[in-house]
Amino acid sequence: MVATPRIAILPSAVADRIAAGEVVERPASAVKELLENALDAGATAVEIEVDDGGRAGIRVRDDGCGMTRDDAVLALSRHATSKIRSADDLVGIASFGFRGEALPAIASVSVLELETASDDGAGTRVSVAGGTLTGIADVARRRGTTVSVTALFSTVPARLKFLRSARSEWRAIVDAVTAIGLAQRAVHLTLSHDGARSLTLPPAPTLRARVGGIWGAPYADALLDVASVSGETLVTGLVERPSDVGTRTRRVQLAVNGRAVRDAGLVRAAEAAYRSTIPAGVRPSIFLDIAVSADQVDVNVHPAKAEVRFRDRWAIERAVEGAVRRALGTMASASVVGLAVAADDRALLRRAPDGLLFGGSGGGDPTHHLIAGLDRQDGNATDPAARGGVLAAADEPIAVPPLVQLRRTYLLFEQDEGVVLIDQHSAHERVLYEQFMGAMARGSAAGQRLLFPLTVHVGPAEGDAFDAHRDALARLGFEIDGFGGHTLLVRAVPTPHPRFDAERCLRDTLVALTGDRDPGTAARHERLAATVACKAAIKAGDALSGAEMRALYVALAHTTLPAHDVHGRATIVRIGWDELERRFGRR
Ligand SMILES: Nc1ncnc2c1ncn2[C@@H]1O[C@H](COP(=O)(O)OP(=O)(O)OP(=O)(O)O)[C@@H](O)[C@H]1O
Ligand SMILES: [Mg+2]
Repeated sequence: MVATPRIAILPSAVADRIAAGEVVERPASAVKELLENALDAGATAVEIEVDDGGRAGIRVRDDGCGMTRDDAVLALSRHATSKIRSADDLVGIASFGFRGEALPAIASVSVLELETASDDGAGTRVSVAGGTLTGIADVARRRGTTVSVTALFSTVPARLKFLRSARSEWRAIVDAVTAIGLAQRAVHLTLSHDGARSLTLPPAPTLRARVGGIWGAPYADALLDVASVSGETLVTGLVERPSDVGTRTRRVQLAVNGRAVRDAGLVRAAEAAYRSTIPAGVRPSIFLDIAVSADQVDVNVHPAKAEVRFRDRWAIERAVEGAVRRALGTMASASVVGLAVAADDRALLRRAPDGLLFGGSGGGDPTHHLIAGLDRQDGNATDPAARGGVLAAADEPIAVPPLVQLRRTYLLFEQDEGVVLIDQHSAHERVLYEQFMGAMARGSAAGQRLLFPLTVHVGPAEGDAFDAHRDALARLGFEIDGFGGHTLLVRAVPTPHPRFDAERCLRDTLVALTGDRDPGTAARHERLAATVACKAAIKAGDALSGAEMRALYVALAHTTLPAHDVHGRATIVRIGWDELERRFGRR
């Protein structure tokens, strides 16, 4: 007896529908594919109209190169593409499309009509229903292509059932079009729903202009510029100020070589740059364009082309984190001293001797060498630095304005734009945090040896915390021997300032670190630096001498992110002259 074969090649119509499931999952995916085709055709303007969340109809009209009659018919068969000829062409591909799959996939699950005319003038209309060609005709039309899709998924009831409400399908379409519009800014894009125009995006010279076109200029103007090169990777874009994070809708947009993509790893990298400037749990809005050389990225890894693969992901993630961090640093420092200080120059400045703040190694007034030359730079408007230029060299001192301590808690001073209050504890905490991070990165910090080692008894949880952070504590200058049980013998301690109570700081830190299961070294170091900084910093209520205040000011100006403390609370509050004038009824 001959068994009936169980395996059979599927008829191509069925295969097409299965493939379509991967390419067109919902109306938004059809819109995305059609828009990308229009862009690949070199369109300068694309008009998108959808009805009932795309469920009733989708029409995409472009002014691109169009197709001849033969090509238009061919375009609707599977694997017909003008964009690649061989697998080799996939490397470094610049077009959105390359599979020759999208049009036939959409056509197999809908009623599709394609009207197109290329430069040679003759227009063609091709009609397909459920994947079957139903007509070819001549039409008169301008150069370009219009694709109309109706009855989407009418041939696949299973998929039809999974469609969400018109509202949520529409939202997905808006998201898809917005993402492409942000990545591709030279094209004029319009999007309408049920006859009402919802988005009009004229060509935009910059990402900021595009973002402004979508969410309004005030929103766009509040974002910080990102622009950094790292090796072969160029990262540009816009990110939210730490103080705005969590107060508005979070938006995330990543484009790699002009292609809007999703990439959790890159988002994490960008967010890592915010660590210690915003509270845990809130996430910033980011809009980043990442340009890498084409052979560094593989675009053919996802059915809807929504993801890409990098050859050297680590390098790209590092570039993204560095770029965002630099952007945040520029903002923050500008807000303290009223100068735009380039991040790299500040890095130079931060190489100033350790113990900048209080009790520097030289003894006496720790700030004398910093304050001595202050008069040299009086911030007059012809100074390149004062004009918003760059603070040039490490030995160029920062002008410290007269400072007043209020309630033993705040430092008050005057700036061109208004009065500024610094919270002394959170400012100092920020300063120490960066010093500690620096110390851990360099792998050394000279602690001060104690004449009589200190014996500290801790509970089991604190003992575990000590074991987990032993190396990092050593890098901070804590020289400690664990004595089995729960006894620690402290031989040396860091000396961030004369009031520093090392034993108390160590105890509080270990308590704060108990149960800390942060896996990564970097995260653990940050936690430790933040905790020790918080415990070690001067407190509200500590009276400061003039020299101490000035040292704090200078040290803060040299940090990367001085506008926020390590918990994301404000370090600095500014009150503009106009606000004061308003409150005094002067205007
Ligand atoms: N709007 C358009 N203007 C001009 N030509 C188009 C347009 N849309 C599609 N085409 C042509 O039809 C071909 C098939 O399009 P389709 O979207 O199916 O595949 P693709 O874009 O090549 O690859 P992918 O499946 O990855 O999108 C394209 O290669 C292109 O030559
Ligand atoms: Mg395509």
